[in-house]
Amino acid sequence: MGVVIAVLNGKGGVGKTTTTQYLGVALAERGYRVLLVDFDAQGGLTELSGIDPETVELTAADVILDDHPVKDLIIPAAQLPNPELGYDLLPSGLALNLLELRWLTSVDRAGGQVDYKAWWTGFRKVCNPVRDRYDLILVDNSPDLGQMALMAMAAADYLLIPLSAQRMSLRGLDNLMSLYKHLGTRYNNSLEIIGVLITMVNRTNRNWEALVRQIQKHCRHHRVPCFRHYIAYSPKVYEMEEGRTLLQDGLRGSATAARSIAEAYREVSAEISLELGRRIPKWQAL
Ligand SMILES: Nc1ncnc2c1ncn2[C@@H]1O[C@H](COP(=O)(O)OP(=O)(O)OP(=O)(O)O)[C@@H](O)[C@H]1O
Ligand SMILES: [Mg+2]
Repeated sequence: MGVVIAVLNGKGGVGKTTTTQYLGVALAERGYRVLLVDFDAQGGLTELSGIDPETVELTAADVILDDHPVKDLIIPAAQLPNPELGYDLLPSGLALNLLELRWLTSVDRAGGQVDYKAWWTGFRKVCNPVRDRYDLILVDNSPDLGQMALMAMAAADYLLIPLSAQRMSLRGLDNLMSLYKHLGTRYNNSLEIIGVLITMVNRTNRNWEALVRQIQKHCRHHRVPCFRHYIAYSPKVYEMEEGRTLLQDGLRGSATAARSIAEAYREVSAEISLELGRRIPKWQAL
């Protein structure tokens, strides 16, 4: 049974999409069967995978509202412009923007009868039918703690929280933890946090070590685990062409910030694999 991990943080630009993609590549490299779900109407993950979101007609919204078979929407790794990425993709497109609006219209048509439970747990229709085909399903979310974030929480087994190495990030963690405690577990009392991943650590900044320690301390305050490895800052990440990541860049062995990012994501994928092995009896640590 595949494990669903939602990559979530209400703050924008903290590395959610990059983390989802890079961990997807690193986990597939380890030999896991990986599905990445783009649950953000911006379609960033879809674009980074080399697919134009404007060409995507069916999205998770069609599965949630119209019971469209989810298997029809998945693009297998071999059919991505760069099959080396190694993960299958459920892409996003602009139509995902209409999810909430289309739901409200359907409620109106049904004479105002609201099945809240069906709505909040709707994203399970996207994940559950394909759990047996994958070891890991990673879900990229928009920078927002609204309805879609709650739907992702209701369907996931774990949250992974990327936090950029800035003082302002601490408030982002406070907001997310408050949502997690008060609402996130309402329809899913087995939801756990697999870890906070510190991203964009700029080692040219004099205070970077103090900042990392401060974030780690804040995680302990919330009793949330923090991954041992963190992700450095490097312009190489946003300079990559679409459809490629630093993990395919043949950087093994060279001492660059870019190599350290690729290696750090590999190390975090190993931490995830070990952690799941600790928590799930039949988990195969690869
Ligand atoms: N380690 C890094 N070093 C430098 N730049 C990075 C790093 N990780 C991501 N970026 C860049 O920072 C920007 C934001 O990253 P990303 O899109 O992954 O964040 P996000 O949290 O998904 O954003 P949004 O909230 O808009 O969805 C992108 O241009 C990305 O290429
Ligand atoms: Mg994003």
